[in-house]
Amino acid sequence: MPKELLLKNKSFYVILTNLTVILTVIFMCGIVGAVSERNITPILLAGLTRLEYRGYDSAGVAVINKEQNLECVKTLNKVKDLNEKVTGIEGNLGIAHTRWATHGLPVESNAHPHIVNNRLALVHNGIVENYSELKQFCINQGAIFSSDTDTEVIVQLINITMQKDNLTLYDAVRQTLPKLKGAYGMAVIDAENPDEMIAVRQGSPLTISLGFGENFISSDPMALLFISQQYVVLEENDLAILRKDSVVIENSKGKVVFDSNDTQKSKYKIITSTQDDAGVTSKGGYRHFMHKEIHEQPKAIAETLEGCISDNRLLVECFGQEAAFIFSKIKRVQIIACGTSYHSGMVFRYWCEDIIGIPVDVEVASEFRYRNPAIEKDVLFVAISQSGETADTAEALKIVEKLKKQAEGKNHWSILTISNKAESTLVRYADLVFLTRAGFEVGVASTKAFTTQLVALSLLMIALGKSQKRLSETVEKRMIQGLRKVPKLVQSALDQEEQIIELSNIIANSQSALFLGRGTMYPIALEGALKLKEISYIHAEAFPAGELKHGPLALVDEETPVIVIAPNNDLLIKLKSNLEEVSSRGGKIYAFEDKNSKLTRTKSVNVISVAENVGRISCPLLFTIPLQLLSYHVARIKGTDIDQPRNLAKSVTVE
Ligand code: G6P
Repeated sequence: MPKELLLKNKSFYVILTNLTVILTVIFMCGIVGAVSERNITPILLAGLTRLEYRGYDSAGVAVINKEQNLECVKTLNKVKDLNEKVTGIEGNLGIAHTRWATHGLPVESNAHPHIVNNRLALVHNGIVENYSELKQFCINQGAIFSSDTDTEVIVQLINITMQKDNLTLYDAVRQTLPKLKGAYGMAVIDAENPDEMIAVRQGSPLTISLGFGENFISSDPMALLFISQQYVVLEENDLAILRKDSVVIENSKGKVVFDSNDTQKSKYKIITSTQDDAGVTSKGGYRHFMHKEIHEQPKAIAETLEGCISDNRLLVECFGQEAAFIFSKIKRVQIIACGTSYHSGMVFRYWCEDIIGIPVDVEVASEFRYRNPAIEKDVLFVAISQSGETADTAEALKIVEKLKKQAEGKNHWSILTISNKAESTLVRYADLVFLTRAGFEVGVASTKAFTTQLVALSLLMIALGKSQKRLSETVEKRMIQGLRKVPKLVQSALDQEEQIIELSNIIANSQSALFLGRGTMYPIALEGALKLKEISYIHAEAFPAGELKHGPLALVDEETPVIVIAPNNDLLIKLKSNLEEVSSRGGKIYAFEDKNSKLTRTKSVNVISVAENVGRISCPLLFTIPLQLLSYHVARIKGTDIDQPRNLAKSVTVE
């Protein structure tokens, strides 16, 4: 095996000089930091608790105490455990972290904060791509590493730079930054300067929450809403200097873009949070956030529709002032998204091409960003993202922005972001924005964000149809009336929960499950399979039912449940013959139908009626519900960690 492995892609090289080194890729981590007149330890831990929903495998906190010593505590358990361990640790400056690693062991030595020289402590969210060569450089300078992480390289480099020229923390960080390749959000403190914290954003979100006699940093301002509703978002390459009575943000050139003591002259504006924080910490009587969020869907859908409809007509301006003009010009739609959001984009393609005849391409962002897509001139790019922070989607939009600028307005491209987070990176990249009103989604497996995205996309289809005169007023009216009924219909689908629980007892004993659907039900089948594998860890695959005979049929046996979504639509006849193919091979079918589908019940065909007379638009929304409930109850029966499933994170903010 070669000693050196060179991986090349469009934008960077990663050199693995030693294959025995564990490459630690950290992302979706949570960062909280505080500088205050009062003891900050409880604030840091309360902030971390609020970031727990993102998923993590270790957590840690470092505080500079009254004697100016760094005290650091880490755990491989939950933040609750950290709470017990920090008893007696008090100070006015500190940083804390939840770490989520995809490679490398989740051991305490790899948990953040990373400390060097008993003096510097650093937390980091992101990846240092050139960490191997930087690590070698540090070792040559005499550094002794105590972890396998890329993060430790940053703090070692800062330390070497400080020691060499007797620099301040600020100067040492400034000199270190150009040496780092990759994406990061980080915060660093120095025990010899216990009044100041330095924070940097490059590719990984960071916000500063402002207080009186205290200031805070976090990777998500929601984490600190309990203490401050006012915050400033760092832009790419910004560096912030936080003290208890001031926050100064500089751009990459060192120019001040925000000064908390001179907000009038600041380029950045202070955001006052509009997020409803109340539901975040409460499960409202449910055992899991995911269960609560599944049941919140009628309300979330109704709220997403609110303000978009007047007198059974769609207000196209709900996508932005320029929307009608932009929509009238475009010839094609390019959807870019990841995970569950990608599935909603797939549903949109069926709707848009079928109902208004505008071509749609749908691609996962991680593929889009690394190929050179041939894109036509008049395209509407639609980024769909619950969090608005998914790194792959953000990078894909950056590429679109760059190409758009290069074309100097000749390619007529516009970007629409559909997101659940008003103040997010993807929203800032967009020409047009549509905010879903799902409310805060805590469960890692997305539920209400998905159905509200479908609502947003159905409105987008109507808006495009209207703007291009491809939709008559009568059809528009009918569709809007149909959408208005969706919250009620979703509620009646939720009311079938008892039947789904019965089915869950069967599925929970399976090793593997197949999901089948046709047309818009194919992406819904994909979403159903994704939900099941995400939270129950049962292997699940979804196929367009017509593809069965081209391979998946080989998987059909008595042990593998085949879950079928069978609304009464044009494709039902075709689907029924697919079911025959399964039955005749001894497969066990569990079908969700609408009352008019009239599937024949047999020993091997179990049927649950979900709804009645569903329309083209409401159909994917309604049939999502039983699949969400199914995965939830299967996972509950299996006893998995439903809200924070293993190895997954809510918001994937670094590649
Ligand atoms: C993660 C989450 C998924 C989500 C995906 C895209 O993988 O676990 O639930 O669908 O990211 O997230 P976004 O915030 O962009 O919709």
